[in-house]
Amino acid sequence: MDDIFEKELRKSTVFVDRNVLSPHFVPETLPHREAQIQALMQKLAPSLSGKTINNMFLYGKTGTGKTVSTKHVIDKLMAVKKKYGASVECVYTNCRILNTKYQVMLKVAEYCYPEESFLGFPFSHLFQKVVDYVQSNNLSMILVLDEVDKVKNLDDLIYTITRANDELAAGRISMIGISNNINFKDSLDPRSKSALFEDELVFPPYNAEELKDILEQRVKLGFKPGAVDESAINLASALAANESGDARYALRLLFKAGEIADEMGDQKVTDKHVNLARKGVENEIVYNVIKTLPEHQKILLYAIAQLSKEGGHYARLDGTVAENVLFTGEVYDRYNRICRVLGREPRTARWCKEYMNELEMLGLITTTLSGKGVRGNTTLIRLAYPAQNIIDLMKKQFGE
Ligand SMILES: Nc1ncnc2c1ncn2[C@@H]1O[C@H](COP(=O)(O)OP(=O)(O)OP(=O)(O)O)[C@@H](O)[C@H]1O
Ligand SMILES: [Mg+2]
Repeated sequence: MDDIFEKELRKSTVFVDRNVLSPHFVPETLPHREAQIQALMQKLAPSLSGKTINNMFLYGKTGTGKTVSTKHVIDKLMAVKKKYGASVECVYTNCRILNTKYQVMLKVAEYCYPEESFLGFPFSHLFQKVVDYVQSNNLSMILVLDEVDKVKNLDDLIYTITRANDELAAGRISMIGISNNINFKDSLDPRSKSALFEDELVFPPYNAEELKDILEQRVKLGFKPGAVDESAINLASALAANESGDARYALRLLFKAGEIADEMGDQKVTDKHVNLARKGVENEIVYNVIKTLPEHQKILLYAIAQLSKEGGHYARLDGTVAENVLFTGEVYDRYNRICRVLGREPRTARWCKEYMNELEMLGLITTTLSGKGVRGNTTLIRLAYPAQNIIDLMKKQFGE
């Protein structure tokens, strides 16, 4: 028994600092974001000398460095302010967590008055306190709204802040909105749209070469010298470049690959570990998507997975057989059957079609039209992941 502790210490590891691979680690330099960082600094700089800065919208797909670059620039701004003294404050809010205008304003008020408690006060009170603070300090306040599309009454929040600026006798409040959802722009009221989108900055997806540089930086800091094969870095970069150029995904692959190498007692991270990590990460992502599906979509997905496992296929007119393709009709029959077994009232075919669209949007299935000749014109369905994986993940969830 005594051995357990000693064994732990003797266990070999490829890491020197696992923390470097965590999502919270902010590296000192951000390769391939120089242009965005510079642009952001240029836009924010006038706030140091009390000039008005435009509101701004930062857009880019997930994992393109929007959050980390913004935090990097805020840190720099605050460092300069501290050194030379300037009336600038920056409040960063993550709107996935603070997702109402009230919660956002509460955070700002608490930032301005760290000694006071605002619990239970109405929005108008919080807002007035913030306005007083800005005015009496002739302050440039920069409010960063990360994942801004998650704010429920966003039009209201933007409008309130814009209007306050018109009335402030001194000082100003500017907003930086960040989002990976470009469509949300259209859901905004035209007035708040033009207020928030005074300036725009785009974060393009990283390509494989750029991801490689990002990974190499972390390998140097987080892994033992020589503990990661170059080809493993190349593979992780290429895989992540295919996944919409997502640096978060690349880092996760690298970290998992390191953990797997440790588990297997290997001294070096190779392609083998990256491939295993990919399967693990993929399952994790799919699992998280499945978890949030409404019940009938889960049942439908389960029906599709069962049928795929049994080996769906149909003969094309040219005599070849398309593997693992299912007909809408058979999927609907199976769905009905599972509903009966579970004692659920099946939804109509029209609803199922709607659910099917949603499953496709989530990337769980793909659909194509059969084209003429195959039982008229029907929709063909194909599961986007191995059927057994989906079944296992669903069983894990339902404990069945
Ligand atoms: N240029 C870079 N150099 C080093 N690390 C980076 C770079 N870009 C992104 N990262 C890292 O990748 C991860 C994802 O970046 P970040 O959180 O900034 O993405 P995001 O664009 O905000 O994504 P989302 O839209 O999902 O919020 C973080 O761990 C970040 O440190
Ligand atoms: Mg982000």
